Amino acid sequence: MGLTSGTPHLLRAARGEIVNRPPVWMMRQAGRYMKAYRDLREKYPSFRQRSEIPEVAIEVSLQPWKAFQPDGVILFSDIVTPLPGIGIEMDVAEGKGPVIENPIRTQKQVDNLHSLQPEESLPFIKTILQALRSEVGNKSTVLGFVGAPWTLAAYAVEGKGSKTYSIIKNMAFSEPAILHQLLAKLSDSIATYVRYQIDCGAQVIQMFDSWAGQLSPQDYETFALPYQRRVFEQVKQTHPDTPLILLVSGSAGLLERMSQSGADIVNVDWTVDMADARRRLGKEMKVQGNLDPGVLFGSKEFITERIHDTVRKAGNWGHILNLGHGVLPTTPEENVAHFFETAKQLDLTKSELLSAVK
Ligand code: CP3
Repeated sequence: MGLTSGTPHLLRAARGEIVNRPPVWMMRQAGRYMKAYRDLREKYPSFRQRSEIPEVAIEVSLQPWKAFQPDGVILFSDIVTPLPGIGIEMDVAEGKGPVIENPIRTQKQVDNLHSLQPEESLPFIKTILQALRSEVGNKSTVLGFVGAPWTLAAYAVEGKGSKTYSIIKNMAFSEPAILHQLLAKLSDSIATYVRYQIDCGAQVIQMFDSWAGQLSPQDYETFALPYQRRVFEQVKQTHPDTPLILLVSGSAGLLERMSQSGADIVNVDWTVDMADARRRLGKEMKVQGNLDPGVLFGSKEFITERIHDTVRKAGNWGHILNLGHGVLPTTPEENVAHFFETAKQLDLTKSELLSAVK
């Protein structure tokens, strides 16, 4: 921690300051791999309860903070949480993920969607974010997040997760005008939601375009990238100082295009070597990642080695250490503890890693 500033470590790194070690957090750091979460799940069996009853969502968000003191504490919620607020009812089913009973398939359904009024439909988000900020103070950074237009449209149109994305691709390639209207509407509500999260206390925002890696690069440029940009541009107009992270799963073929989205930080997954990602994204772009979540099934020595390898390749500027995607539900908690301890002990100004850093 800096002695000179009250700004937390992750936020300083995300803004481009040189820091003595990369800040570290983990996607899905609250969740099923933690016994404390599984216990709480017995008491509150539905995901919507756990994420929308403020006291429960606050407790869940803070479980990993209390156990591991990560540099980032992410809001416990889901990307589909704002959908009812624009007229799309949903549930999050055990072991399955989001389910939308009346998927959006027609022009009329798109016309009937309304814009998000977060103060009305998402008041619990304010309570949760404010509580997280007051709990962690400047010892950690509070992250908010949203789903990106393409990924939320995929859930809205398919009605659930998919392996092939046949229904939304059918719409994209046979009735593109309807899909573009849906994407535009989603973009504006997502931007509203990001602004609301920032106003409520989120210090960094990550946008998940989890399923945009299912698109060919040319279709990414048509159906994903312009709408990512539309969200980020609107947010930057009112909140220029809040760092924005973009994640796409399976993004190896899209990295350069992701950097055209207006994001400040590009999440890199483990299918790309971190040194290659740095080369491809250029010196100006900050990165997050990129250990394979499966590494946390290895020995402590192995985990340490992979952390060192990633940090060496990412260099000493503009890197947030993370897994390339969410931690897996069967991961041993003691390995997660080791991941955080090792990462927090790094000191790039002292260790022999420094000489290896370019
Ligand atoms: O990172 C965090 O700790 C914050 C919590 C978080 C959740 N969902 C909680 C959750 C975040 C950031 C998300 C985002 C999310 N949700 C994404 C983007 C991230 C990604 O994986 O690419 C997506 C695609 C969803 C949709 C979704 N919700 C899926 C695919 C699932 C999992 C289905 C399953 O059971 O494996 C969910 C449910 C969900 N959201 C869980 C959690 C912890 C698991 C259900 C549970 O714990 O009961």
